[in-house]
Amino acid sequence: MKISILGLGYVGSVSAACLAQNGHFVIGVDRDSTKVSMINEGFAPVIEESLPTIIERTVRENRLRATTDASEAIRQSEITLVCVGTPDNSNGSIDMSHIERVCQEIGTALADKSDYHLVVVRSTVLPGTMETLVIPTLEAYSHKKSGRDFGVAFNPEFLRETTAVKDFYNPPKTVIGAHSAPEADLIARLYEDIDAPLFKTPVRVAEMVKYCDNAFHALKVVFGNEIGLICKALGIDSHEVMHIFCQDHQLNLSAAYLKPGFAFGGSCLPKDIKALTYMAKHKDLDLPLLNALMPSNQAMIQYALERIISCDRKRIGFLGLAFKAGTDDLRNSPIIALIEQLLGKGYDIRIYDHHVNLGRLRGANRQFIEERIPHISRLMEDQVDKVIAHAQVVVIGNRDQAFSQIFDRLSPKQYVLDLVRIQEKIETTATYEGISW
Ligand SMILES: NC(=O)c1ccc[n+]([C@@H]2O[C@H](COP(=O)([O-])OP(=O)(O)OC[C@H]3O[C@@H](n4cnc5c(N)ncnc54)[C@H](O)[C@@H]3O)[C@@H](O)[C@H]2O)c1
Repeated sequence: MKISILGLGYVGSVSAACLAQNGHFVIGVDRDSTKVSMINEGFAPVIEESLPTIIERTVRENRLRATTDASEAIRQSEITLVCVGTPDNSNGSIDMSHIERVCQEIGTALADKSDYHLVVVRSTVLPGTMETLVIPTLEAYSHKKSGRDFGVAFNPEFLRETTAVKDFYNPPKTVIGAHSAPEADLIARLYEDIDAPLFKTPVRVAEMVKYCDNAFHALKVVFGNEIGLICKALGIDSHEVMHIFCQDHQLNLSAAYLKPGFAFGGSCLPKDIKALTYMAKHKDLDLPLLNALMPSNQAMIQYALERIISCDRKRIGFLGLAFKAGTDDLRNSPIIALIEQLLGKGYDIRIYDHHVNLGRLRGANRQFIEERIPHISRLMEDQVDKVIAHAQVVVIGNRDQAFSQIFDRLSPKQYVLDLVRIQEKIETTATYEGISW
Protein backbone atom coordinates (compact mmCIF):
# COMPACT_ATOMS: atom_id res chain seq x y z
CA MET A 1 0.00 0.00 0.00
CA LYS A 2 1.02 3.65 -0.33
CA ILE A 3 1.20 5.09 3.17
CA SER A 4 1.93 8.59 4.46
CA ILE A 5 3.05 8.93 8.08
CA LEU A 6 2.71 12.31 9.80
CA GLY A 7 5.15 12.80 12.66
CA LEU A 8 8.54 11.08 12.53
CA GLY A 9 9.35 10.67 16.22
CA TYR A 10 9.68 7.27 17.89
CA VAL A 11 6.31 5.93 16.76
CA GLY A 12 6.29 7.51 13.30
CA SER A 13 9.85 6.71 12.24
CA VAL A 14 9.71 3.12 13.50
CA SER A 15 6.31 2.54 11.85
CA ALA A 16 7.56 4.13 8.62
CA ALA A 17 10.71 2.00 8.51
CA CYS A 18 9.00 -1.27 9.47
CA LEU A 19 6.06 -0.82 7.08
CA ALA A 20 8.51 0.00 4.28
CA GLN A 21 10.51 -3.09 5.19
CA ASN A 22 7.27 -5.10 4.93
CA GLY A 23 6.95 -4.02 1.30
CA HIS A 24 4.75 -0.91 1.50
CA PHE A 25 5.66 2.45 -0.05
CA VAL A 26 5.98 5.00 2.76
CA ILE A 27 6.28 8.79 2.74
CA GLY A 28 7.16 10.22 6.13
CA VAL A 29 6.25 13.80 7.01
CA ASP A 30 7.63 15.97 9.77
CA ARG A 31 7.70 19.70 10.23
CA ASP A 32 11.24 19.25 11.59
CA SER A 33 13.36 19.48 8.42
CA THR A 34 16.36 17.91 10.18
CA LYS A 35 14.43 14.65 10.73
CA VAL A 36 13.24 14.73 7.15
CA SER A 37 16.78 15.21 5.79
CA MET A 38 18.15 12.48 8.03
CA ILE A 39 15.66 9.95 6.69
CA ASN A 40 16.25 10.96 3.08
CA GLU A 41 19.99 10.50 3.65
CA GLY A 42 19.29 7.03 5.08
CA PHE A 43 19.81 7.84 8.76
CA ALA A 44 17.48 7.18 11.70
CA PRO A 45 16.03 10.36 13.29
CA VAL A 46 15.73 8.66 16.71
CA ILE A 47 17.93 6.13 18.50
CA GLU A 48 16.36 2.67 18.31
CA GLU A 49 18.02 -0.69 17.87
CA SER A 50 17.95 -1.95 14.22
CA LEU A 51 16.30 1.23 13.00
CA PRO A 52 19.38 2.66 11.17
CA THR A 53 19.81 -0.53 9.13
CA ILE A 54 16.13 -0.68 8.14
CA ILE A 55 16.00 3.01 7.20
CA GLU A 56 19.24 2.85 5.21
CA ARG A 57 17.99 -0.17 3.21
CA THR A 58 14.39 0.97 2.61
CA VAL A 59 15.48 4.47 1.54
CA ARG A 60 18.06 2.95 -0.82
CA GLU A 61 15.37 0.68 -2.29
CA ASN A 62 13.03 3.68 -2.78
CA ARG A 63 10.34 2.33 -0.46
CA LEU A 64 10.82 5.08 2.14
CA ARG A 65 11.29 8.82 1.75
CA ALA A 66 10.43 11.89 3.80
CA THR A 67 9.15 15.41 3.22
CA THR A 68 7.94 18.47 5.13
CA ASP A 69 5.01 18.81 2.71
CA ALA A 70 2.00 17.01 4.19
CA SER A 71 -0.33 17.72 1.29
CA GLU A 72 2.06 16.20 -1.27
CA ALA A 73 2.42 13.08 0.91
CA ILE A 74 -1.35 12.75 1.27
CA ARG A 75 -1.92 13.12 -2.45
CA GLN A 76 0.63 10.38 -3.12
CA SER A 77 -0.84 7.90 -0.62
CA GLU A 78 -4.09 6.05 0.07
CA ILE A 79 -3.75 5.87 3.83
CA THR A 80 -2.32 8.34 6.38
CA LEU A 81 -1.05 7.38 9.82
CA VAL A 82 -1.02 10.23 12.33
CA CYS A 83 1.89 9.82 14.78
CA VAL A 84 2.43 13.35 16.10
CA GLY A 85 3.05 13.94 19.79
CA THR A 86 0.33 14.42 22.42
CA PRO A 87 2.40 15.77 25.35
CA ASP A 88 1.04 16.93 28.70
CA ASN A 89 0.44 20.58 29.57
CA SER A 90 1.78 21.97 32.85
CA ASN A 91 -1.62 21.35 34.52
CA GLY A 92 -1.61 17.67 33.45
CA SER A 93 -4.11 18.05 30.62
CA ILE A 94 -3.26 16.68 27.19
CA ASP A 95 -1.88 19.08 24.56
CA MET A 96 -3.96 18.48 21.44
CA SER A 97 -2.44 21.27 19.38
CA HIS A 98 -0.31 18.94 17.21
CA ILE A 99 -3.25 16.66 16.49
CA GLU A 100 -5.48 19.63 15.65
CA ARG A 101 -2.86 21.20 13.41
CA VAL A 102 -2.16 17.99 11.55
CA CYS A 103 -5.89 17.34 11.04
CA GLN A 104 -6.21 20.81 9.52
CA GLU A 105 -3.37 19.98 7.13
CA ILE A 106 -4.85 16.61 6.21
CA GLY A 107 -8.33 18.11 5.76
CA THR A 108 -6.95 20.82 3.48
CA ALA A 109 -5.15 18.20 1.38
CA LEU A 110 -8.25 15.99 1.20
CA ALA A 111 -10.27 18.90 -0.21
CA ASP A 112 -8.28 18.58 -3.45
CA LYS A 113 -8.10 14.79 -3.52
CA SER A 114 -10.75 12.85 -5.45
CA ASP A 115 -9.70 9.30 -4.43
CA TYR A 116 -10.93 7.73 -1.22
CA HIS A 117 -8.45 8.25 1.63
CA LEU A 118 -8.24 6.68 5.09
CA VAL A 119 -6.92 8.68 8.06
CA VAL A 120 -5.67 6.54 10.94
CA VAL A 121 -4.70 8.13 14.25
CA ARG A 122 -1.93 6.24 16.06
CA SER A 123 -1.06 8.96 18.60
CA THR A 124 -2.47 8.37 22.06
CA VAL A 125 -5.63 10.46 22.42
CA LEU A 126 -8.34 10.55 25.10
CA PRO A 127 -11.63 8.72 24.45
CA GLY A 128 -13.96 10.88 22.37
CA THR A 129 -11.13 12.76 20.59
CA MET A 130 -11.87 11.13 17.23
CA GLU A 131 -15.51 12.20 17.42
CA THR A 132 -15.07 15.65 18.94
CA LEU A 133 -11.83 16.87 17.36
CA VAL A 134 -10.39 14.69 14.59
CA ILE A 135 -13.51 14.10 12.48
CA PRO A 136 -14.96 17.65 12.83
CA THR A 137 -11.58 19.20 11.92
CA LEU A 138 -11.08 16.93 8.92
CA GLU A 139 -14.63 17.63 7.72
CA ALA A 140 -14.34 21.40 8.24
CA TYR A 141 -11.06 21.68 6.29
CA SER A 142 -11.93 19.19 3.52
CA HIS A 143 -15.60 20.18 3.11
CA LYS A 144 -16.20 16.44 2.87
CA LYS A 145 -18.06 13.90 4.95
CA SER A 146 -16.32 11.27 7.08
CA GLY A 147 -17.56 7.75 6.35
CA ARG A 148 -18.65 8.75 2.86
CA ASP A 149 -15.85 10.75 1.23
CA PHE A 150 -13.00 9.60 3.44
CA GLY A 151 -12.48 7.11 6.27
CA VAL A 152 -11.26 7.62 9.81
CA ALA A 153 -9.99 5.11 12.35
CA PHE A 154 -8.01 4.83 15.57
CA ASN A 155 -5.21 2.29 15.86
CA PRO A 156 -3.19 2.66 19.09
CA GLU A 157 0.52 1.92 19.22
CA PHE A 158 1.98 -0.34 21.92
CA LEU A 159 5.71 -0.13 21.19
CA ARG A 160 8.22 0.77 23.91
CA GLU A 161 11.25 2.94 23.35
CA THR A 162 14.58 1.00 23.12
CA THR A 163 12.75 -2.12 21.88
CA ALA A 164 10.50 -0.31 19.40
CA VAL A 165 11.42 -2.27 16.24
CA LYS A 166 11.11 -5.61 18.04
CA ASP A 167 7.79 -4.48 19.52
CA PHE A 168 6.52 -3.39 16.10
CA TYR A 169 6.97 -6.94 14.82
CA ASN A 170 5.85 -8.60 18.07
CA PRO A 171 3.13 -6.41 19.54
CA PRO A 172 1.03 -7.74 22.42
CA LYS A 173 -2.03 -7.10 20.24
CA THR A 174 -3.34 -5.08 17.32
CA VAL A 175 -6.37 -2.93 18.10
CA ILE A 176 -8.36 -1.27 15.35
CA GLY A 177 -11.13 1.16 16.26
CA ALA A 178 -13.19 1.83 13.16
CA HIS A 179 -16.72 2.89 12.24
CA SER A 180 -17.08 0.29 9.49
CA ALA A 181 -15.77 -3.16 8.57
CA PRO A 182 -14.11 -2.06 5.28
CA GLU A 183 -12.12 0.62 7.11
CA ALA A 184 -11.03 -1.89 9.77
CA ASP A 185 -10.14 -4.45 7.08
CA LEU A 186 -7.99 -1.93 5.22
CA ILE A 187 -5.96 -1.18 8.35
CA ALA A 188 -5.69 -4.90 9.16
CA ARG A 189 -3.91 -5.31 5.80
CA LEU A 190 -1.03 -3.19 7.19
CA TYR A 191 -0.44 -5.83 9.84
CA GLU A 192 -1.12 -9.01 7.88
CA ASP A 193 2.51 -10.15 8.36
CA ILE A 194 2.35 -9.61 12.09
CA ASP A 195 1.40 -12.47 14.36
CA ALA A 196 -0.64 -10.91 17.18
CA PRO A 197 -4.23 -11.08 18.43
CA LEU A 198 -6.34 -8.68 16.35
CA PHE A 199 -9.26 -6.76 17.84
CA LYS A 200 -11.65 -4.78 15.65
CA THR A 201 -13.69 -2.65 17.98
CA PRO A 202 -15.58 0.67 18.24
CA VAL A 203 -13.38 3.77 18.07
CA ARG A 204 -13.97 4.88 21.67
CA VAL A 205 -13.09 1.41 22.99
CA ALA A 206 -9.80 1.52 21.07
CA GLU A 207 -9.05 5.00 22.44
CA MET A 208 -9.71 3.79 26.00
CA VAL A 209 -7.71 0.55 25.64
CA LYS A 210 -4.48 2.50 25.34
CA TYR A 211 -5.10 4.47 28.56
CA CYS A 212 -6.29 1.33 30.34
CA ASP A 213 -3.01 -0.38 29.37
CA ASN A 214 -0.80 2.47 30.49
CA ALA A 215 -2.71 3.00 33.75
CA PHE A 216 -2.25 -0.71 34.49
CA HIS A 217 1.44 -0.63 33.65
CA ALA A 218 1.90 2.33 36.00
CA LEU A 219 -0.13 0.50 38.66
CA LYS A 220 2.10 -2.54 38.33
CA VAL A 221 5.30 -0.50 38.74
CA VAL A 222 3.98 1.31 41.80
CA PHE A 223 2.57 -1.91 43.30
CA GLY A 224 5.88 -3.75 42.86
CA ASN A 225 7.75 -0.83 44.40
CA GLU A 226 5.46 -0.54 47.43
CA ILE A 227 5.63 -4.29 48.07
CA GLY A 228 9.41 -3.91 47.73
CA LEU A 229 9.48 -1.19 50.42
CA ILE A 230 7.50 -3.35 52.84
CA CYS A 231 9.74 -6.34 52.17
CA LYS A 232 12.89 -4.28 52.61
CA ALA A 233 11.68 -2.91 55.94
CA LEU A 234 11.01 -6.48 57.10
CA GLY A 235 14.29 -7.89 55.79
CA ILE A 236 12.49 -10.05 53.21
CA ASP A 237 13.79 -10.63 49.67
CA SER A 238 11.24 -8.64 47.61
CA HIS A 239 12.43 -10.15 44.33
CA GLU A 240 11.83 -13.67 45.63
CA VAL A 241 8.34 -12.59 46.80
CA MET A 242 7.48 -11.05 43.43
CA HIS A 243 9.00 -14.01 41.58
CA ILE A 244 6.60 -16.35 43.37
CA PHE A 245 3.74 -13.83 42.93
CA CYS A 246 4.35 -13.81 39.17
CA GLN A 247 4.20 -17.61 38.89
CA ASP A 248 0.52 -17.50 39.85
CA HIS A 249 -1.34 -17.21 36.57
CA GLN A 250 -4.62 -18.25 38.11
CA LEU A 251 -5.31 -15.35 40.47
CA ASN A 252 -2.40 -12.88 40.09
CA LEU A 253 -1.27 -12.47 36.47
CA SER A 254 -4.62 -13.37 34.96
CA ALA A 255 -8.02 -11.93 34.14
CA ALA A 256 -9.19 -12.66 37.70
CA TYR A 257 -10.43 -9.61 39.64
CA LEU A 258 -10.24 -7.30 36.62
CA LYS A 259 -13.87 -7.12 35.52
CA PRO A 260 -15.57 -3.81 36.40
CA GLY A 261 -18.12 -4.47 39.14
CA PHE A 262 -18.73 -3.58 42.78
CA ALA A 263 -16.58 -3.21 45.91
CA PHE A 264 -14.57 -6.13 47.26
CA GLY A 265 -15.50 -7.69 50.60
CA GLY A 266 -15.42 -10.98 52.43
CA SER A 267 -13.42 -12.30 55.31
CA CYS A 268 -9.94 -11.85 53.80
CA LEU A 269 -9.29 -8.90 51.47
CA PRO A 270 -10.46 -6.05 53.75
CA LYS A 271 -8.83 -7.36 56.92
CA ASP A 272 -5.58 -8.29 55.22
CA ILE A 273 -5.24 -4.96 53.41
CA LYS A 274 -5.90 -3.17 56.70
CA ALA A 275 -3.36 -5.31 58.57
CA LEU A 276 -0.68 -4.77 55.92
CA THR A 277 -1.10 -1.00 55.71
CA TYR A 278 -1.37 -0.64 59.50
CA MET A 279 1.87 -2.54 59.94
CA ALA A 280 3.54 -0.44 57.19
CA LYS A 281 2.41 2.76 58.90
CA HIS A 282 4.15 1.61 62.07
CA LYS A 283 7.30 1.11 60.03
CA ASP A 284 6.98 4.74 58.83
CA LEU A 285 6.47 3.63 55.23
CA ASP A 286 4.68 5.93 52.81
CA LEU A 287 2.53 3.68 50.57
CA PRO A 288 0.00 5.88 48.73
CA LEU A 289 -1.20 3.08 46.44
CA LEU A 290 -1.81 0.39 49.06
CA ASN A 291 -3.24 3.00 51.44
CA ALA A 292 -5.72 4.03 48.73
CA LEU A 293 -7.28 0.56 48.41
CA MET A 294 -9.76 0.74 51.30
CA PRO A 295 -10.83 4.36 50.58
CA SER A 296 -11.29 3.51 46.89
CA ASN A 297 -13.39 0.48 47.84
CA GLN A 298 -15.46 2.64 50.18
CA ALA A 299 -15.96 5.18 47.37
CA MET A 300 -17.54 2.42 45.28
CA ILE A 301 -20.08 1.72 48.04
CA GLN A 302 -20.77 5.45 48.27
CA TYR A 303 -21.27 5.60 44.51
CA ALA A 304 -23.86 2.78 44.66
CA LEU A 305 -25.60 4.61 47.51
CA GLU A 306 -25.78 7.78 45.43
CA ARG A 307 -27.16 5.87 42.41
CA ILE A 308 -29.94 4.40 44.59
CA ILE A 309 -30.73 7.76 46.21
CA SER A 310 -30.92 9.38 42.77
CA CYS A 311 -33.82 7.02 41.85
CA ASP A 312 -35.93 8.94 44.36
CA ARG A 313 -37.85 5.82 45.46
CA LYS A 314 -38.02 4.40 48.97
CA ARG A 315 -38.78 0.68 48.56
CA ILE A 316 -35.53 -1.15 47.78
CA GLY A 317 -35.08 -4.89 47.18
CA PHE A 318 -31.69 -6.55 47.50
CA LEU A 319 -31.02 -9.82 45.69
CA GLY A 320 -27.88 -11.17 47.31
CA LEU A 321 -26.50 -10.20 50.69
CA ALA A 322 -23.22 -12.10 50.91
CA PHE A 323 -20.22 -10.62 49.04
CA LYS A 324 -20.49 -13.44 46.49
CA ALA A 325 -22.98 -16.12 45.53
CA GLY A 326 -22.67 -19.56 47.08
CA THR A 327 -21.51 -18.43 50.53
CA ASP A 328 -23.27 -17.58 53.78
CA ASP A 329 -20.25 -15.58 54.98
CA LEU A 330 -21.50 -12.07 55.66
CA ARG A 331 -18.38 -10.67 57.26
CA ASN A 332 -17.33 -7.45 55.53
CA SER A 333 -20.02 -7.74 52.86
CA PRO A 334 -20.08 -4.40 51.02
CA ILE A 335 -23.80 -5.01 50.44
CA ILE A 336 -24.38 -4.88 54.18
CA ALA A 337 -22.46 -1.60 54.38
CA LEU A 338 -24.71 -0.26 51.62
CA ILE A 339 -27.91 -1.51 53.28
CA GLU A 340 -26.94 -0.04 56.62
CA GLN A 341 -26.50 3.40 55.09
CA LEU A 342 -29.86 3.15 53.34
CA LEU A 343 -31.58 2.04 56.58
CA GLY A 344 -30.08 5.04 58.30
CA LYS A 345 -31.75 7.24 55.70
CA GLY A 346 -35.18 5.63 56.24
CA TYR A 347 -35.35 3.34 53.19
CA ASP A 348 -37.81 0.42 53.24
CA ILE A 349 -35.70 -2.64 52.41
CA ARG A 350 -36.32 -6.33 51.71
CA ILE A 351 -33.55 -8.86 51.04
CA TYR A 352 -33.26 -12.30 49.49
CA ASP A 353 -30.17 -14.49 49.57
CA HIS A 354 -30.56 -18.21 49.00
CA HIS A 355 -27.52 -19.02 51.12
CA VAL A 356 -28.33 -16.70 54.00
CA ASN A 357 -31.35 -18.35 55.56
CA LEU A 358 -31.51 -17.93 59.32
CA GLY A 359 -33.48 -21.17 59.69
CA ARG A 360 -30.60 -23.14 58.18
CA LEU A 361 -27.62 -21.13 59.40
CA ARG A 362 -25.37 -22.52 62.14
CA GLY A 363 -22.23 -21.51 64.01
CA ALA A 364 -20.23 -18.32 63.48
CA ASN A 365 -22.36 -16.98 60.63
CA ARG A 366 -25.60 -17.35 62.58
CA GLN A 367 -23.91 -15.69 65.57
CA PHE A 368 -22.65 -12.86 63.32
CA ILE A 369 -26.17 -12.17 62.07
CA GLU A 370 -27.82 -12.38 65.46
CA GLU A 371 -25.24 -10.23 67.22
CA ARG A 372 -23.99 -7.81 64.59
CA ILE A 373 -26.84 -7.32 62.12
CA PRO A 374 -30.11 -8.39 63.79
CA HIS A 375 -31.82 -5.36 62.20
CA ILE A 376 -30.87 -6.68 58.74
CA SER A 377 -31.89 -10.29 59.32
CA ARG A 378 -35.45 -9.11 60.01
CA LEU A 379 -35.61 -7.78 56.44
CA MET A 380 -34.88 -11.16 54.85
CA GLU A 381 -37.51 -12.79 52.60
CA ASP A 382 -37.55 -16.46 51.64
CA GLN A 383 -38.44 -15.91 47.96
CA VAL A 384 -37.04 -13.75 45.19
CA ASP A 385 -40.55 -12.78 44.09
CA LYS A 386 -41.47 -11.31 47.46
CA VAL A 387 -38.51 -8.94 47.13
CA ILE A 388 -39.41 -8.07 43.54
CA ALA A 389 -43.03 -7.40 44.52
CA HIS A 390 -41.86 -5.01 47.22
CA ALA A 391 -39.14 -3.17 45.35
CA GLN A 392 -39.28 0.00 43.32
CA VAL A 393 -35.51 -0.37 43.02
CA VAL A 394 -33.99 -3.87 42.68
CA VAL A 395 -30.29 -4.15 43.54
CA ILE A 396 -28.55 -7.29 42.26
CA GLY A 397 -25.78 -7.91 44.78
CA ASN A 398 -24.22 -11.22 43.79
CA ARG A 399 -24.05 -13.64 40.89
CA ASP A 400 -26.66 -16.18 42.01
CA GLN A 401 -27.84 -17.28 38.55
CA ALA A 402 -31.46 -17.29 39.78
CA PHE A 403 -31.22 -13.49 39.59
CA SER A 404 -30.70 -13.58 35.81
CA GLN A 405 -34.26 -15.00 35.52
CA ILE A 406 -36.02 -11.99 37.06
CA PHE A 407 -36.00 -9.57 34.15
CA ASP A 408 -39.22 -10.60 32.41
CA ARG A 409 -41.01 -10.36 35.78
CA LEU A 410 -40.18 -6.68 36.24
CA SER A 411 -42.43 -3.75 35.31
CA PRO A 412 -41.49 -0.56 33.43
CA LYS A 413 -41.84 1.35 36.70
CA GLN A 414 -39.05 -0.61 38.35
CA TYR A 415 -35.39 0.29 38.33
CA VAL A 416 -32.54 -2.24 38.46
CA LEU A 417 -29.06 -1.46 39.75
CA ASP A 418 -26.82 -4.41 38.83
CA LEU A 419 -23.63 -4.60 40.90
CA VAL A 420 -22.30 -7.80 39.30
CA ARG A 421 -23.22 -7.82 35.57
CA ILE A 422 -25.47 -10.81 36.12
CA GLN A 423 -25.53 -11.38 32.37
CA GLU A 424 -24.19 -9.55 29.36
CA LYS A 425 -27.42 -8.84 27.46
CA ILE A 426 -30.41 -7.73 29.48
CA GLU A 427 -33.92 -7.66 28.06
CA THR A 428 -36.41 -5.99 30.35
CA THR A 429 -39.01 -3.26 30.38
CA ALA A 430 -37.56 -1.99 33.67
CA THR A 431 -34.84 0.67 33.72
CA TYR A 432 -31.52 -1.15 33.95
CA GLU A 433 -28.16 0.26 35.02
CA GLY A 434 -24.81 -1.44 35.62
CA ILE A 435 -22.77 -0.02 38.50
CA SER A 436 -19.56 0.38 36.49
CA TRP A 437 -20.42 -0.37 32.87
N1 LIG B 1 7.21 6.98 22.40
C1 LIG B 1 6.56 5.88 22.73
O1 LIG B 1 7.12 4.93 23.28
C2 LIG B 1 5.10 5.73 22.40
C3 LIG B 1 4.50 4.47 22.44
C4 LIG B 1 3.16 4.36 22.11
C5 LIG B 1 2.42 5.49 21.78
N2 LIG B 1 3.01 6.71 21.78
C6 LIG B 1 2.21 7.86 21.39
O2 LIG B 1 2.49 8.14 20.01
C7 LIG B 1 2.48 9.55 19.79
C8 LIG B 1 3.82 9.98 19.23
O3 LIG B 1 4.81 9.70 20.19
P1 LIG B 1 6.35 9.87 19.87
O4 LIG B 1 7.09 9.44 21.08
O5 LIG B 1 6.67 9.26 18.57
O6 LIG B 1 6.44 11.48 19.75
P2 LIG B 1 7.69 12.36 19.33
O7 LIG B 1 7.60 13.62 20.11
O8 LIG B 1 8.95 11.57 19.40
O9 LIG B 1 7.42 12.67 17.79
C9 LIG B 1 6.38 13.45 17.34
C10 LIG B 1 6.80 14.05 16.01
O10 LIG B 1 5.68 14.72 15.44
C11 LIG B 1 6.19 15.84 14.73
N3 LIG B 1 5.10 16.78 14.45
C12 LIG B 1 4.40 17.56 15.32
N4 LIG B 1 3.48 18.27 14.64
C13 LIG B 1 3.58 17.93 13.33
C14 LIG B 1 2.90 18.30 12.16
N5 LIG B 1 1.92 19.20 12.20
N6 LIG B 1 3.26 17.72 10.99
C15 LIG B 1 4.25 16.81 10.96
N7 LIG B 1 4.94 16.41 12.04
C16 LIG B 1 4.60 16.96 13.22
C17 LIG B 1 7.27 16.38 15.65
O11 LIG B 1 8.16 17.24 14.95
C18 LIG B 1 7.92 15.08 16.11
O12 LIG B 1 8.98 14.69 15.28
C19 LIG B 1 2.12 10.19 21.13
O13 LIG B 1 0.74 10.38 21.19
C20 LIG B 1 2.53 9.14 22.14
O14 LIG B 1 1.79 9.24 23.33
C21 LIG B 1 4.35 6.85 22.06
